[in-house]
Amino acid sequence: MTTTMLSAQGLCSYYGLSQVLFDMSLSVERGETLALLGRNGAGKSTTMKSLMGVLKPARGATQYGGKTISGWRPERVARAGVGYVPEDRQVFAELTVEDNLLMGAKAGTKGQRDWTLERIYDTFPMLTPLKSRQAGLLSGGEQQMLSLARTLMGNPDLLLLDEPSEGLAPLIVEQIGHVLKDLRAGGLTIVLAEQNMRFCLDLATNAVVIDHGTAVFSGAIDALMADQALIDKYLSV
Ligand SMILES: Nc1ncnc2c1ncn2[C@@H]1O[C@H](COP(=O)(O)OP(=O)(O)OP(=O)(O)O)[C@@H](O)[C@H]1O
Ligand SMILES: [Mg+2]
Repeated sequence: MTTTMLSAQGLCSYYGLSQVLFDMSLSVERGETLALLGRNGAGKSTTMKSLMGVLKPARGATQYGGKTISGWRPERVARAGVGYVPEDRQVFAELTVEDNLLMGAKAGTKGQRDWTLERIYDTFPMLTPLKSRQAGLLSGGEQQMLSLARTLMGNPDLLLLDEPSEGLAPLIVEQIGHVLKDLRAGGLTIVLAEQNMRFCLDLATNAVVIDHGTAVFSGAIDALMADQALIDKYLSV
């Protein structure tokens, strides 16, 4: 039996007077990975922010774990078990890598502390020699790893991950892909915003393709792969 972990219906979001999200709907089953795909400026990050409550949609509703969370502040959504890795990564530049990790530490919704520093360094070996380094001095790829690692320290049930591959070297992208596969195998539910469809292929089961703030496809990623016209229209660069 599948259970819906997160769903949104008819989200309409604005920046000031300008509407950016139009009637966005999506649904993620527990343990599933959903890809949000679309070109630059399509509305992927705006969708993420609207789900997290960082941006308050003018219309529409979001349910998470059976509760309506529309209107909740991001801190409350986070406490309910949603881990959010924004596209600008937001590490604490002045703090060391380890202090960043400790800042993210909290028990999960069932009191679990599955993620310890030890497990983080096992999962992200590249962070081990960087423990005492100021986070602001890390490379883009290292900061991406740290940002994801810090979010995991909060023991989330659902992970919202905004373009983890953006601007990173292929080797780092591959490493992040491996980590995400392991997380998925461990049962974590993931919403992954990406421009890079290839990156999502082995990870996601379903996809929403966004164009100009509208969902133009919603369904199995295999069905998307089989529709070259759709890919050419909305995803190819
Ligand atoms: N803070 C903001 N104020 C005004 N407009 C914004 C703001 N943030 C984004 N936009 C606009 O909203 C639209 C959607 O942007 P969004 O960041 O959601 O796209 P995206 O799909 O995440 O793109 P990218 O792949 O480049 O990250 C774009 O037209 C963008 O210019
Ligand atoms: Mg974005």
